[in-house]
Amino acid sequence: MNYNFPVTRTTHPKPRPEDETKLGFCKFFTDHMFVMDYDEGMGWHDGRVVPHEPILIEPASCVLHYAQMMFEGMKAYVTPSGEIQLFRPDMNAKRMASTNERMCIPELPEEILLAGVKAVIKEDIDWVPSAPGTALYIRPFIFGDEVSFSVLPAKHYRFLIILSPCGSYYAANDGGLSATRIYVQDKYIRAAKGGTGYAKVGGNYGGGMRASKDAMKVDCKDVLWLDAEEHKYVEEIGTSNAFFKIGDEVITAPLDSGTILPGITRNSVIELLKKWGVKITERKLSIDEIIEAQNKGTLKEIFASGTAAVISPIGCLNIKGKDLLVNDGNVGPTAQKLYDTLYGIQTGTVKDDMGWTYPLGLKK
Ligand code: COI
Repeated sequence: MNYNFPVTRTTHPKPRPEDETKLGFCKFFTDHMFVMDYDEGMGWHDGRVVPHEPILIEPASCVLHYAQMMFEGMKAYVTPSGEIQLFRPDMNAKRMASTNERMCIPELPEEILLAGVKAVIKEDIDWVPSAPGTALYIRPFIFGDEVSFSVLPAKHYRFLIILSPCGSYYAANDGGLSATRIYVQDKYIRAAKGGTGYAKVGGNYGGGMRASKDAMKVDCKDVLWLDAEEHKYVEEIGTSNAFFKIGDEVITAPLDSGTILPGITRNSVIELLKKWGVKITERKLSIDEIIEAQNKGTLKEIFASGTAAVISPIGCLNIKGKDLLVNDGNVGPTAQKLYDTLYGIQTGTVKDDMGWTYPLGLKK
């Protein structure tokens, strides 16, 4: 279907960040955003591109009280020839569908997601950064804004897409890869079986902030969550999935518990490692097995993967106040190769023989 969303251009364009190497993560937002409404009986309607500005919301809107919302995270990249492309947006649409189902939010067709993304990027194409390590972060989100205190799914929703030129979440000051310190959280939990761990909802992150605060007190960037039942098995990192290289095997937590976010970068890492003939296993991995591997000298690397985080090596795990050094605190070869390959495919400098890139038909 061909969508022709109306556009209201801003009369106050913002100055764009001068130094693309110092963007940080989502500190700047572009001039426009996409908005669409949903009403029971009407479905999704009135998609439009409007200036990015504060929105009005009735204080009794259900999302502000009961958190019926979801979000996605994707990125647009500019290739050397100026084409703007996305990375595996079909996977975002698939995850969005599963989150919406979990949160009783009406299904949003993939073609609307993609048409909305294209329509807003078209207006803000000059904001797509091209400095090494950067991308245009795309944040689609939906919230219920029915005025109601009944604990029931809303009858009215808003869908927005906002954009931010950014570097990666845990990037070093120079924008490159640096190994981070991560706090192993054994008190609080992120997700339990039957909960919303696999869905991309704000509550998963809001509930994790208390733990992140503790992590920062001991100079860690984020937390590594353990399972809710035994506080024993590694699950994921605050913003991303986690991979552990022990001997020749790379291990990541399996999705079948329903407590792990099915990351698109996670899936891409698995696919690339398989293609390279590296043994990659989705299995339960206890923190004790990691400590034992470190003692035996077989713990080679740990890294995080995510849309925001891209590939972020972990140089140290803080476990019950003790530091466990990984690869002497340095960026490991697997993480570096994955980063170079993935970011290369995303930005069109490495041939995409996986069929992952999605040109938007827009040129900068
Ligand atoms: C992403 O990687 O896109 C995310 O949504 C993680 C976010 C919590 C920073």
